[in-house]
Amino acid sequence: MMNDKLKVGICGLGTVGGGVFNLLHANAAQITARTDYEIQVVQVATRQLPADFINHHNAEYVNDIFAVASNPAVDVVVELIGGINPALELVLTAINNGKHVVTANKALLAHHGDKIFQVAQNKGVIVAFEAAVAGAIPIIKTVREGLAANNINLVAGIINGTGNFILTGMMQQHLSFAEALSAAQRLGYAEADPTFDVEGIDAAHKLTILAALAFGMRLRFDAVYSEGIANISRYDIDHAAGLGYIIKHLGIAKKLADGMELRVHPTLVSHEQLLSKVDGVMNAVLVNSDAAGNTLYYGAGAGAAPTASAVIADIIDIARANIKTPFLGNHHLLDLPVIGIEESISPYYLRIMADDIPGVLAQITGVFSQNGINIETIVQKESEEQAGIIPIIIITHPVREKIMNAAIWSLEQQANIKKKVVKIRILDLAN
Ligand code: HSE
Repeated sequence: MMNDKLKVGICGLGTVGGGVFNLLHANAAQITARTDYEIQVVQVATRQLPADFINHHNAEYVNDIFAVASNPAVDVVVELIGGINPALELVLTAINNGKHVVTANKALLAHHGDKIFQVAQNKGVIVAFEAAVAGAIPIIKTVREGLAANNINLVAGIINGTGNFILTGMMQQHLSFAEALSAAQRLGYAEADPTFDVEGIDAAHKLTILAALAFGMRLRFDAVYSEGIANISRYDIDHAAGLGYIIKHLGIAKKLADGMELRVHPTLVSHEQLLSKVDGVMNAVLVNSDAAGNTLYYGAGAGAAPTASAVIADIIDIARANIKTPFLGNHHLLDLPVIGIEESISPYYLRIMADDIPGVLAQITGVFSQNGINIETIVQKESEEQAGIIPIIIITHPVREKIMNAAIWSLEQQANIKKKVVKIRILDLAN
């Protein structure tokens, strides 16, 4: 039997593009058997062909991405160039030319998804983006299909592979931050500009998309609070471990009675929670919903083959034409209010560097008591860097962020306390 053909044009042959090209070839027989379509790469566009490029598909090679978006032979444009410009123009051109689009570009969707999905809806084409969030994990499908019967209350996850790889390398192999980051870059995990990974911007892009899907809200990248991992030190990793916590970089979207919390920051996760065991480039997303309860999804968050797996799943969906509703239809997205980070409630880990003198502990606990903050654990450690200065580690009960910030400000005004007090939120699924 002759199979129908779905003709694909790939823009960008970097880590992910090369992975898609190769995996489509390696697993062609299985993919055709599952879809009754032969997925044929008819054209690839890239500024420069990779040195190890083998043209398995006999695809035409061009260096103009817009040639793919305008090619009458192309049914699906796969956008893997990343960034906003010229990716936005490329995607809009492809849609306006009646082509389906598959993209892994989380930055593009977080910033311009509203427009892209609107134009796609008007043109009746699909824009699919499984690879934009959490690499190989089918989290977009899961939220959109598997959990479609539920009201979702919380999405919390490790959604940047590079950040998790760095934190794990610092903790388990005692790598420096810079060593761990350059290993992540060598392995093709990091963004072209790795500050996106390190400063939490990439995770904020992904959280924006997840929140829109999970809560039916508009894409609100502008409202995501984000803090990166650049200030996480070995000291805090070790002190936290001593108290039974692992430091993870989490994205959290939570629905409260008065609005949404959208935040990305380093978080202490109890070693008893599964999220604490997600190491290296692996990602995991915890979803709490009213009927399904807690469900947890785990898999590689970056890298050529895992991301290619997600991109090709979208191409297969288009071949099967089983996407009948748009991924994000603008007409029914809610304008949910987003609550500022200062109103969020969490337990905290603090590291306070103080003069090693009598009464310093009483001075610190006095500030907490004046602010009505309940201390769960307080530990005085040995001097680390400077003789006569000791780290005091505190774990608090849950407290509102603005109250905690006021207490930290008071502490930092005192002569015996050195700036800056290190503050890291602790994951508390009960609050
Ligand atoms: N730089 C991203 C990460 C790639 O490390 O998670 C996958 O989105």
